[in-house]
Amino acid sequence: MGTRSFGPVAPYYDHLMQSVPYERWADYTEALLDATHPDPADLLELCCGTGKFGLAMARRGYRVTGADLSYPMVAEARRVVTREGTAMDLLVADACALPFEERFDAVVSVFDSLNYITHDGGLEEAFASAYRALRPGGIFAFDMNTVHALEEELFTQSRTGEGERLRYDWVSSWDAKTRLSTIRMRFEWQDGSEVREFDEVHVQRGYEDDEIREGLAATGFELEGAYIAYTLHPLREGASRAYYIAVRPY
Ligand SMILES: C[S@@+](CC[C@H](N)C(=O)[O-])C[C@H]1O[C@@H](n2cnc3c(N)ncnc32)[C@H](O)[C@@H]1O
Repeated sequence: MGTRSFGPVAPYYDHLMQSVPYERWADYTEALLDATHPDPADLLELCCGTGKFGLAMARRGYRVTGADLSYPMVAEARRVVTREGTAMDLLVADACALPFEERFDAVVSVFDSLNYITHDGGLEEAFASAYRALRPGGIFAFDMNTVHALEEELFTQSRTGEGERLRYDWVSSWDAKTRLSTIRMRFEWQDGSEVREFDEVHVQRGYEDDEIREGLAATGFELEGAYIAYTLHPLREGASRAYYIAVRPY
């Protein structure tokens, strides 16, 4: 994760993501979990950010723990959890080194969080960490931006209209050799007559479908499905977001 990512933006993250359909993602994930596990009850949201997805699952009755590497993001999640009174445990932890052994029926990660693991071997470390955290029979479900999406510079975008409280201008650049997408993000938060400006730099790594499958298999997972995200259509060339569901065998 870049040194300047998910820090200054944390207090504004939920505003930024206000149109993201977390409830629909929860519907989709829940359907996949129910089809793959007899009774998924204990769920770890890996890279939970401000906890939007985990809270949606907690409201449905799952016992949810959220883990994220960014202290400011977890602090925001804590604020929301306290305000709502919904039960959800939270901790600051690296997806590559989770402090759990056979604790969960499902480990779920959404919104291309695993693309933020950029160091060589890091994705396999995260897979192994999720594997250890799962009980036998447990499910690992995650989405990822595809290489295609990152090549297409999907992060080059802006919202600069008058009247927007949070204006932003992002420029991404893709390096085909390293398969890293570097996104320079400029933000302006308007609070009455005051404007707060800040920036972040995010780096995402593109992983090919075959390396994801190989990494899961090398860890010991059995792949249940790889889909075009939020559908049951098999993943194919040209998809922007992939959703994988794998099982830690008994
Ligand atoms: C795009 S945000 C998504 C957050 C949340 N899943 C959501 O749906 O809103 C990516 C999150 O991944 C977290 N992250 C990045 N690298 C991580 C790592 N190695 N371990 C844990 N969290 C990580 C970031 O701090 C950030 O909160």
